[in-house]
This record gives sequence, C-alpha cells and structure tokens, in this order.
Amino acid sequence: MIVTIDGVAASGKSSVSSGVAQALGVPYVSSGLLYRAVTLLGLTAGVDLADAPALLPLLGEVRLEPLASGNRVWNADTDLTADLHSTRVDTGVSVVAALPEIREWVDAQLRALPAPLVAEGRDMGTNVFPHAPHKFYLTASARVRAERRARERPEDIPAIEAALTERDRLDTTQSAPAPDARVIDTGPLTLQGVIDTILTALH
Ligand code: CDP
Repeated sequence: MIVTIDGVAASGKSSVSSGVAQALGVPYVSSGLLYRAVTLLGLTAGVDLADAPALLPLLGEVRLEPLASGNRVWNADTDLTADLHSTRVDTGVSVVAALPEIREWVDAQLRALPAPLVAEGRDMGTNVFPHAPHKFYLTASARVRAERRARERPEDIPAIEAALTERDRLDTTQSAPAPDARVIDTGPLTLQGVIDTILTALH
C-alpha cells in the first residue's frame, strides 16, 4: 500500500507524512529532501544549478534513509540532512527540480523503495506513484504557511511569504493535485487535525 501526500511549499507535508506513517507503522519518504540534496551538492561543487550533466555525476553515492522519526540523506558517509533547509538551498532548489534528468533520478530512487510507505512531495500522486490507492494534497494560504515557517527560519514573515510565493510559481509545473487526490486546506487545522483527517479517510 502506498499513501501519497503532496502539497505546496511549507504546507506541513513532512510533519503530516511522518505522523500518518507512524500511526500506520510504515516508513515515509520525503522526495523534496532528494531535490534539496542535489541542490546542496551542486552549490558545494560550484556547479551551475541548471546544468544537469554537471550535477548527475555528483549523485552516485547519495542515499535516502527513510527513518520514521525524520528522513536523512547521505552522500557516502556524510550526513547532509542538517544542511538541507538553508535559505540558499530553498532559493536554488526549484531550478534543480525543473530539470527532467534530475526528476528521473529522484523518481528512480523513490520507486526502488519497498512498499508499504507514505510518499511526500509535489508529484507523488500524479507522476511517481500514479496507481497509489490513497492520495492527498495539502494547501494553505501563503500567509499561514509563512507564519508556520517563521518558527523554523530566522527571517521575518513578509520575506518568507514572498519566497514561498515565488517557489510556488516556479514549482507550478510539477505541483498539481492528482485528479483522484483529496485536497485538504490545512489553514484552520492543527497538525494533529490534518493527520486525523487523513487517517479517518484511510479507514
Ligand atoms: O516543504 P517545502 O516545499 O519547503 O520543501 P520540500 O518538500 O523539501 O521541496 C523542496 C523543493 O523540491 C520544492 O520547492 C520543489 O522545487 C522540489 N520538489 C519537487 O519538484 N518535486 C517533489 N516531488 C518534491 C520537491
């Protein structure tokens, strides 16, 4: 069984997916972390983030570890996870995510993982796991999302809101609800409220 949880930037996908996966007793995978890892490795190597042939050779030893408590991404023996949510990765990731070669690489990593699992991202329900029986898509207004993310980032709410709106625009191509996804506006709900809505729909 595969459950897909897609949604816009900072809609709470990771926390919700982790909670749903723990309640179900299955792993969850965060596809965004793989796009972030490619971005970080490209920035570190000084490579043009729009240059897929230059990025792909950096990825040979990248591995996603789908821990229930929070996914980790490794490059050989180096744990990249703590560096994946910096503002410079936030800013560059949509450029990397627009590259078809990189999307194919991420998709292959995800499809190699054994089910059951909860998969979280932008195109899990539409593209990576189109036959998943349970699909959800999380939304919230840009302001609500910026207020949430301000608790994780040392920036003010208007700056975060502007960056989120720009990332939504850049991600439009790959971020649409699957026709059979249930869309949940998380604005009025607590984290537990969103998790419970999904768990109720699964029963
Ligand atoms: O939750 P937030 O949007 O901040 O981050 P994320 O889920 O880690 O995704 C980071 C970026 O990766 C997104 O802005 C997209 O550009 C890209 N992404 C994607 O294109 N497709 C996915 N399935 C997941 C992420």
